[in-house]
This record gives sequence, structure tokens and C-alpha cells, in this order.
Amino acid sequence: MRGVRLCIWCSVLATILVWLLVLKLLNPAAAQPAKPNKPLSFLNDVAPILKENCFACHDPKVRKGRLDMTTFEGLLTGGDRGPSVVAGKPDESPLYLLISGQKEPHMPPKETGGSLTKEQIAIIERWIREGAKFDGPSPKANLLVELRKRWNPPMPPAQYRFPAVIRALTFTPDGKQLVVGGYFELLVWDLESGQLVKRIRTRAERANGLAFLPDGKTLVVAGGRPGQEGDVRVYNFAASPTRQDAGIAFLDGVEAKAGVLVRELVQTDDEILALAVSKDGKRIAAGGCDRLIRVWETDKWTLEQTIENHADWVLDLCFSPDGKYLLSASRDKTAKVWDLAAKEPLATFPGHQEYVSGVTVHPNGKIGISCGRDRQIRFWNLASDAKQIRTAGGHADFVEKVRFHPNKPLLISCSVDKTVRIWNPDNGAQIRALEGHTDAVFAMAISPDGSRVASGAWNGEVRIWNVDDGKLIKNFIASPLATTASK
Ligand code: HEC
Repeated sequence: MRGVRLCIWCSVLATILVWLLVLKLLNPAAAQPAKPNKPLSFLNDVAPILKENCFACHDPKVRKGRLDMTTFEGLLTGGDRGPSVVAGKPDESPLYLLISGQKEPHMPPKETGGSLTKEQIAIIERWIREGAKFDGPSPKANLLVELRKRWNPPMPPAQYRFPAVIRALTFTPDGKQLVVGGYFELLVWDLESGQLVKRIRTRAERANGLAFLPDGKTLVVAGGRPGQEGDVRVYNFAASPTRQDAGIAFLDGVEAKAGVLVRELVQTDDEILALAVSKDGKRIAAGGCDRLIRVWETDKWTLEQTIENHADWVLDLCFSPDGKYLLSASRDKTAKVWDLAAKEPLATFPGHQEYVSGVTVHPNGKIGISCGRDRQIRFWNLASDAKQIRTAGGHADFVEKVRFHPNKPLLISCSVDKTVRIWNPDNGAQIRALEGHTDAVFAMAISPDGSRVASGAWNGEVRIWNVDDGKLIKNFIASPLATTASK
């Protein structure tokens, strides 16, 4: 009898052991020994969660509940309910009480996107319990800036799985190569051989504006990471490569010591979308999601003025030929003219009544030309009345950019309708349509000698056209896909 009882107990025990083993196998996390209890870092673990989910309503401008979380000091000061964090006491900290649903109102507000995940809530709880320690330079430091400093751009992939959308391209000053914005890099294609010859790693995920200065080697790039950061950086295009591999030169434009990155002109909280260089190369201007336009002189790279003239994103910029005026196109549905010497607005052109995405100036310096979502190219007086002179229609979708030919009376436009078109600027008549792209054309550039146009599309394709007869000279996918790049 006693033996039988023992056997029953043995089998129960065995069953329990087996189940424990199964559970452990099913839950790999449980299989690992508990992590040594290293305290959480505010900057690495907590601040990124707040930035993603809370800053939109709790920054210095919006300050919902009179709480600004974009500095550690702001979090300690708190809002209407007093300090948001009580060190060591999650259950007395509004920051934890409102995200965990223990107190109303729930944060983030349910109607604007639901809750933090259990893991995120647990991180914040644990950090408060561990004493709510701050590991940044100063409690007054802007956390967006601190997080940006800590963020490291990835290495661009050796080969892309998908072509990168082309938002910016430019010819090199000798007209022999084309620089195209890639994924965390600039890709340089030799136009004779059609081969990728140079890759310049950048901090920006994408380039939205590219321009060489007259010295032929200084390359200014505007871009960023959507919703995260924006920048304007100056690179030495002629710098010696960090390494060379299968005919491709690799330049590192991120690590300062590589000597490729010359200067960082500005870092912003969202993308820089537009870039322009004055004809004499003495000034550059950039603008983007923060609605501001910044103008630098290129001699010593000093910031000369910051222009706040638009109510929404700045989408394109162009200096007048004499360098006196700066024209801008904006999502606020206007094109505007700024007097750079007087530092005041000269004119507003409201004619598009839709997003204005491109702007340029007639070489006579008297006519502004803009294009946009209304599918029109509009010509207007570059004077305080900004009176409309004529329109050029024909594009079947949004017109993205307009550019003037460097030495002929020709205007060139590109559009979401997959075409590039050449116009007579003096009567607005279309001279020809360059057709063949199979996707929206967002970017274009004219070669320095004026003989060719390069256009870049959403699907990553570049087409090179002959200006005089509109013939296609070359087309290729300007991304290092498995089939086009050697390595
Ligand atoms: C869509 C806007 C919005 C977002 C996003 C948001 N909040 Fe709030 N938050 C508010 C509003 C509005 C109040 C004021 C509510 C009240 O006082 O009744 C508030 C108040 C608070 C307060 C109390 C401040 C005080 O002292 O009264 C805390 C703490 C807080 N939010 C934390 C968070 C956290 C943490 C997140 C992100 C996980 C977040 N909020 C995201 C809108 C937002």
C-alpha cells in the first residue's frame, strides 16, 4: 500500500516537472537568467517613450495641463497637478498614475491613439521606483537635442531591397556624374558608363535638396528623417575615400574625422525640404517643416537671417538672378518674395489656392514662376502687386518643380503625371513633353551646360534626356540593387 502511494506521488511530481520544462521551452524569455539589475537610464529608456507618445502635447508650445516634458526640469516642475515625478514613488507620480490608468485622465488621451504598451509602462514605473535618476548633461537641456545627439545613423545597406524614392538629384559641375539621394547616403552615378562610382554616407535618411557651390567640390545637402530631424550639411565631394571597393569609392560623411563632412549648418526637429544657392554662390537658403527659411553666407558660413514668412512647410526656394530677392513656395498655398537687404517681405502670390511646390525666377529678374497642386504653372510680376501674367497648363497632375534653363529661354517642369515638360516662358506654350517615366517625377536637374535634363521618380528611376530634341539618352534605377551594384 505504502509503495503504491509513493508511486502516485512520484508520477505527480514527474508530471509537474515535465510541465515546468514545457512552459520554460514555450517561453524563451523565462529560459534566460534574470538580467543583472542595472538601473534604467532616463535618456536611453524613458525619454524616447515620452518623445514618441507625449511631446506632441507636452512641449513648450502646446503645454497641455501646463506640463512641458521636453526638459527633465519641466517633468519635475510638472503642471496643474504639481510635480509629475516623485522619486522612488510611482504611486504618487502623476506621470505613472495617468499612463497606467490608475487616475484619470488617461494619458495619452484614449481618443488620440490609445495606451502605452505594458512594457513601456513598466519601464516608466521601474525608473521612478529606482529613484527617477537623471543621466543627462543638465536638467534644463532640451531632450529632443539630447536624443538626437545619442541617435546614430545606420550604415546604408550594401544592396537595397527596394529602390529609394528620388527626391533630389544634381549633376556634378563637370556634367559627367549625377548625385542622387539614396538611403542614409548619396549615390554618385557615372553617366557615361551608367555605373555607381561613389557612395557618401550621410546622417540624413534622405536628401531633399542638393547643390554644388561654384568651386565644384563643395556639396550642400538638405534633408532629414521624417518627423524626427532635419539638417543642412556641407560635404567635401572631392575628399579621399574611406575605402575603395570594386570600383566604388566609399566616403563617410557622418564621422567628422573622415574629413568628408565639412560643416553642419543647422539641425531641426523635422525635415529640411528646400535648398537654393544664389547665382554667385555667396549665399544659400534652406527651409522646411519648421516653416522657417534660413540664409547663410557661404564665405564663413554665418547665418545671415532667419525668415518667418510662411504659415506652413516651405517646399521650394530660389534666389533672383541679382541675388536681391528670395522666392519661396509653401504648403500654405502661397509663393512669396523676400527682400534680403531690407529683411522684409516684398510680395505674396496667392494664385494657386493649393499647395505651391515649386518656384523659380525668369532670368530677366522680373517674373516669378511657380507651380503646385492646382496642376498649373503660373507667371506673376516679381513686384509688390505680384499680379498674375499668365498660366501654363497641360500637366495632368500636381506639378512638383519648375526650373529655368541656364542659357536658353526654356522653362522645364516635372509632375506627378509622370512627365517632364519643356515650355516657352514668353507665351506659356508647351514645346514638348518628355514621356516614359512609369511613376511620379519629384525631382529634376539641368546639366550645367544646358544640354541635358535628368529626372528622378518615385520608383527610383532616373532618366536623362536631350534638351534640344527630347530624346531619351539613358535610364536606370539609381539604387544599388542586387542586379546593378557589384557590392
Ligand atoms: C493629444 C494630447 C496629449 C498627449 C499625446 C498626451 N497628453 Fe498628457 N495631457 C493632455 C491634456 C489635455 C492634459 C490636461 C488634462 C487635465 O488636466 O484634465 C494632460 C495632462 C497630463 C498630465 C498631468 C499634468 C498636470 O500636472 O496636470 C500628465 C502627467 C500627462 N499629461 C502625461 C502624459 C504622458 C506621459 C503622455 C505620453 C505617454 C501624454 N501625457 C500624452 C494631453 C495629452
